[in-house]
Amino acid sequence: MSTPRIAVIGGTGLTRLKDLEITRRQVMHTPYGEPSGPLVFGRLNDTEIVFLPRHGARHTIPPHEVNYRANIWALKNAGIDNVVAVAAVGGIGEEMKPGMVAIPDQIIDYTWSRANTFFEGNDLEEVTHIDMTWPYSDSVRQTLIRAIDDLGIEAVEHGTYGATQGPRLETAAEIDRLERDGCDLVGMTGMPEAALARELGLNYACCAVIANWAAGRAEGEITMDDIAANLDVGMARVKQILTHVISS
Ligand code: HPA
Repeated sequence: MSTPRIAVIGGTGLTRLKDLEITRRQVMHTPYGEPSGPLVFGRLNDTEIVFLPRHGARHTIPPHEVNYRANIWALKNAGIDNVVAVAAVGGIGEEMKPGMVAIPDQIIDYTWSRANTFFEGNDLEEVTHIDMTWPYSDSVRQTLIRAIDDLGIEAVEHGTYGATQGPRLETAAEIDRLERDGCDLVGMTGMPEAALARELGLNYACCAVIANWAAGRAEGEITMDDIAANLDVGMARVKQILTHVISS
């Protein structure tokens, strides 16, 4: 059996890949507990990939309760090298319009009390500090950007992702602060996922889908209906991008 090298972590709005011809599901037990679900192995346009819905197959695991360590460990131990993490985000910067896709290149982490490293505990042989100057894999980012350009999809090919704790959305003042800090996008799952992937040597990049204007960036409240409508538009683009990435 050949080993797939690419994994897609699906976020809100992407709990399944419709065109994925599923070949098998594998339940993984990890030293860190259970992943969000079995790894779904399948073929997309004749290429084997692994799919893992971050919030579970029925979208029941909130961002602060995702077992990020188990998910990343399971992918690494399934022989994966490259990870495309799909994530719904709010748009802060003017160019980050709902329905659009963005490929961020930086992260600021505002999350707290999440299990955020593999490098801890009694078995540790030495203290390890990974480099996170550039938190995302340049090769995976460039592959996504090439696909976006080839397909002529309007997208933002840079940006700083502010990772918040959730599950509530932010206040307008919190978004003002994130903007002053330099964040262009806000989401709840970008960390510690990216750092854990780096710790295990996975090439990891984020394909963000802008689900809404962040708090205080549009008139009125943010509604789940608006988020769902924008995600429909954005996820259709993501599926095109993923299919192109995987087939080329
Ligand atoms: N904030 C944080 N996470 C999100 C948002 C938001 O506005 N939209 C989608 N995920």
